[in-house]
Amino acid sequence: MTHAADPAARPTLSKTPSPRPRDPLRPDFVWGASTSSYQIEGAAREDGRGESVWDLFCRQPGRIQNGDTGDVACDHYHRYREDVALLRDLGVGAYRFSIAWPRVLPSGRGSPNEAGLAFYDRLVDGLLSAGIEPWVCLYHWDLPQALQEAGGWANRDCASWFADYARVVASRLGDRVKRFATFNEPSVFTLFGYAFGWHPPAADDAASHHAAIHHVNLAHGMAIDVLRDYVIGASLGAIHNMQPARPVQATPEDRAAARMLDCYWNRAFADPQMRGAYPDAIASRMAPFCRDGDLERIHRPADWLGINHYSPVYARADSASRLGFAWSDAPADAPRSPIGWQIDPAAFRDVLLDACDRYGLPIYVTENGAGAVELADASGAIDDRERIAYLAAYLEALEEATVLGADVRGYFVWSLLDNFEWGAGYANRFGIVRVDLTTQARTPKA
Ligand code: FCB
Repeated sequence: MTHAADPAARPTLSKTPSPRPRDPLRPDFVWGASTSSYQIEGAAREDGRGESVWDLFCRQPGRIQNGDTGDVACDHYHRYREDVALLRDLGVGAYRFSIAWPRVLPSGRGSPNEAGLAFYDRLVDGLLSAGIEPWVCLYHWDLPQALQEAGGWANRDCASWFADYARVVASRLGDRVKRFATFNEPSVFTLFGYAFGWHPPAADDAASHHAAIHHVNLAHGMAIDVLRDYVIGASLGAIHNMQPARPVQATPEDRAAARMLDCYWNRAFADPQMRGAYPDAIASRMAPFCRDGDLERIHRPADWLGINHYSPVYARADSASRLGFAWSDAPADAPRSPIGWQIDPAAFRDVLLDACDRYGLPIYVTENGAGAVELADASGAIDDRERIAYLAAYLEALEEATVLGADVRGYFVWSLLDNFEWGAGYANRFGIVRVDLTTQARTPKA
């Protein structure tokens, strides 16, 4: 690496960048857009799809803003042809989407659902004929409910069920799809689902949280082996959210809390998957679940690292916390996007540099983007100047990381469409294409 290891020695992102090569990005740099199954597909009860944990969670009163659900979402299941045409008109080279496990295996295991697999066949064929490379993520949080009832990720068997599911997808799509990711943001769904109670299964239990972390890691390693075996010419990775974990105040206590948040948020998955060991600070908590040979099964060779990045995260000390930190909002004076997320492009640049040093794999930015609460004018058009400014600043940071030596090979914007944004329902709009949720009309934003 050519950049200084000491973050303090890094330049500050300036408004007037210093002279640099005209295009610092590689000639084969991948430009793409990302979505996920539960957030856009809808058709929740069609063609044999089973229920996912999110279907049930959304029906619990008070869980999701405005009582929204993914039942219809962007109706992408029926409108995928139009969405592929939007991608083609945008000129992207790649599209990252996820497979809904319960659409393919309604009970999570057992006999595959032919209609579900046929949908992904049609989508992949449509993308390929539009000249767009499909990037498939196997898991973007929609666990089959039947598996949750069997213990979900707290049950070690879930790792083998996932490997079996990977085999079903790989043997069906692997002749045409070469880019596969195992999991999207495992630290988010384990921390929010098993420790904070904000996502399904809405648990707050130390043992099942640490068990879930380990079993997801095991599932990742087992699926990598399956994909290698079943997909000729596979290019494999996992997608991690990576953000600086900062103390909310510069006290020793908050700094210690931030180090623990860093372990759970940035390293509990990436370290064992790419370096073969849990971070020291959580190793003893993981030990009860870790059997002989597990770390070798988790640490399988990958081809690339997917990074999702939006904003830094913050911790504060809390003596009552069993994890060693409490989640905190960014300081009040931090610059924010219209939905209140901190804007800090230099943090993005530093994450890319640090991840490149620590893990040594080529990086694809698999999600980055800006949320807003936008209103359309009478013609349906959106003034998305704030999103444009956000994207410009973050792409400049990406270029700067590249100039400083980070091996970044692609960028996927989140998201193609305004979609179901988990707890925020449809209130936060991340699309570069507006979706009118009443008519389902799509209108590209500026
Ligand atoms: C990420 C999720 C993605 C989307 C964005 C805004 O954490 O992976 O599904 O909700 O945040």
